[in-house]
Amino acid sequence: MTASFPALRLRRPRASAWSRALHAENVLTPADLIWPLFVCEGQRQEEPIASLPGVSRWSVDLMVERAREARDLGIPCLALFPNTPRELRSEDGAEALNPDNLMCRATRAIKDAVPEVGILTDVALDPYTAHGHDGLVDAAGYVLNDETTEILVRQALNQARAGADIIAPSDMMDGRVGAIREALEGERFVNVQIMAYSAKYASAFYGPFRDAVGSRGLLKGDKKTYQMDPANAEEALREVEADLMEGADSVMVKPGLPYLDIIRRVKDTFQVPVFAYQVSGEYAMIETAVAAGAADRDAMVIETLMAFKRAGCSGVLTYHAAHAARLLNG
Ligand code: PBG
Repeated sequence: MTASFPALRLRRPRASAWSRALHAENVLTPADLIWPLFVCEGQRQEEPIASLPGVSRWSVDLMVERAREARDLGIPCLALFPNTPRELRSEDGAEALNPDNLMCRATRAIKDAVPEVGILTDVALDPYTAHGHDGLVDAAGYVLNDETTEILVRQALNQARAGADIIAPSDMMDGRVGAIREALEGERFVNVQIMAYSAKYASAFYGPFRDAVGSRGLLKGDKKTYQMDPANAEEALREVEADLMEGADSVMVKPGLPYLDIIRRVKDTFQVPVFAYQVSGEYAMIETAVAAGAADRDAMVIETLMAFKRAGCSGVLTYHAAHAARLLNG
């Protein structure tokens, strides 16, 4: 009796580490990472965030140290978010326009000390409004599109003047990318990029972020009239197309892992740089699984980040950026 053997042995290239390395279709390096960081008032101030174990808010002086750390780890870019003091939050979020607000001070300090690291700044009013929404609300609680966009344009210019390299509108107002692009050109910020949060879903995964920027207790209602419905995919392509037509240099899909299908479709349809935001709730899921003894942090971090590369991402915003870079640097 002759044994029958498979003609095709897909396991053959997997038999040794050198061969697996040789056959890897995608690579993950620290240069694929954008590190989101929360800035707070004070001096030498570090404030741990309970719902994001391992993540802290840093005062501007300590933020500069984080920027040096990023540079030394090979992380090309930071994404900054402010925890605006309660007394500076208002109905119209005017603190977003203050040239000396936390974001601008942090941006200037980092650009002075570590100019080789890129700075991405978030455009949206939620860290500055008393109601926690990303824009101006009318009497019925509806977020007003065009009135909000006018303020967002001024917020973006304020950030560009402070030295921001990438303006990232996360507010989901219609037409804001075009308006911001026109204003940037008008002030001759010709090399300031726009990374549009194009496909941003009204997600349950943003909870810990809202703690981090101090807007959780303030938010009235939800963001479903401006952020996307998780049921929709075709609509994400329209959002991306609009932002590209309006002058976005790159687009983002957010959250990350639950929306890998959107990333792949965007990449296949438009062949433009696509980024994913592995958001706070995703980070918290990994960390709580690790704390429960149910998961190996290092393996999970690398596997999830690689999933974004495989799906077509140019890079990923992740709170695990420094940890992942350390792992990747060996
Ligand atoms: C605000 C903004 C949010 C995030 C990034 N920018 C929260 C929201 O839309 O409510 C979430 C990021 C995260 O959860 O890590 N416009």
